[in-house]
Amino acid sequence: MKAVCIIGSPNEYGNTAFVVDQIIDGMIETDIKVERLALGKMEINYCQGCKICDTTRRCVQRDDMDALIKTIEDADILLVASPSYWGNVSGQLKVFFDRCLPLFDPRSGQTRFPQGKAGIAVAVSASADATESANVIKAIERFFGYLGITPIQRITIEGVYAKEDFVGKEERLDEAFRIGLNLVKQLDFRN
Ligand SMILES: Cc1cc2nc3c(=O)[nH]c(=O)nc-3n(C[C@H](O)[C@H](O)[C@H](O)COP(=O)(O)O)c2cc1C
Repeated sequence: MKAVCIIGSPNEYGNTAFVVDQIIDGMIETDIKVERLALGKMEINYCQGCKICDTTRRCVQRDDMDALIKTIEDADILLVASPSYWGNVSGQLKVFFDRCLPLFDPRSGQTRFPQGKAGIAVAVSASADATESANVIKAIERFFGYLGITPIQRITIEGVYAKEDFVGKEERLDEAFRIGLNLVKQLDFRN
């Protein structure tokens, strides 16, 4: 079983990545093969809105999105994580979503993405207000919905502006670890 974990933050080792890494630590205790990808390290240009991919099913731009689309097509589990930036997903993640348009037919509303995948959504916010990260989760799960990915787990950690804010949130981090650890069991129950 293969999990692709997409860190939507520009910070490869920032707060969002820290939460994702707890989940990954749990996953690698099982026999899940994990690929950790940080959008901030990748060259992914803006969608130009040309809609040529409607017919060609391929973007006209050549950048890291070519390999990334293949990688997510091969995954069984797709984890998508983002910090709350202005109460929404990061710019990097939004550009990634836009560039996934070749995987969806906007006219028919049909996905062109291989089916049967499970999705995990992760959000981190500085605000203690749960609506901040809830909006992020909503955006990620909406993306899952367009592609026919079944959301199976989600986690939000609020009140984290800087790394030291994780102090006192060990229970939430343990919850993240357990999401990764129990994933195989959870997916077995689903089948
Ligand atoms: C451009 C920007 C916008 C932000 N907007 C919000 C926001 O609207 N709500 C919030 O709770 N935190 C906001 N934050 C704080 C981040 O969500 C928080 O610091 C998070 O832990 C950063 O995660 P990262 O290290 O993965 O980037 C913002 C941070 C930045 C850099």
